[in-house]
Amino acid sequence: MALSKVHTIDFPKIEDPRGNLSFIQAPEQLPFKLCRAYWIYDVPGGKKRWGHAFHAQEEVIVALSGSFDVVLSDGNDERRYHLSRSYYGLYVPPMTWRYIDNFSTNSLAYVLSSTLYDEADYIRDYDEFCRLVAQGDK
Ligand code: TYD
Repeated sequence: MALSKVHTIDFPKIEDPRGNLSFIQAPEQLPFKLCRAYWIYDVPGGKKRWGHAFHAQEEVIVALSGSFDVVLSDGNDERRYHLSRSYYGLYVPPMTWRYIDNFSTNSLAYVLSSTLYDEADYIRDYDEFCRLVAQGDK
């Protein structure tokens, strides 16, 4: 099941009285070859980014600022991950339904992706996702 592959990734943290510094360096800190980064910002507090899954895309989600919840489902189990620190990320494998909610005001969700943007890789209908999971789509 895809949820067993979900894990957090700790990034290096250089503590400094002038302000802490973390970094993501490929390939050391990522379980895939980095292809794209995008970020979600200016989300009104408490709003939700609706769900989808990907056939192939893997991603790591980081709360660069503020906090939010990433809710993941493999069609059977659902788990909620509260992200609130910039020095770790959440690895989301392919074929995982995910939505993000509970955004704090001024939060910034940074997403590192294994693929270029490809609408054909999206599964935007939850029932279709469950059908594909039942068929054993990986
Ligand atoms: P989408 O991934 O559907 O975000 P959400 O599920 O949170 O609403 O992306 C929203 C829109 O942005 C969609 O029309 C496609 C576009 N988009 C790109 O053009 N390139 C990208 O890398 C991403 C992530 C989205």
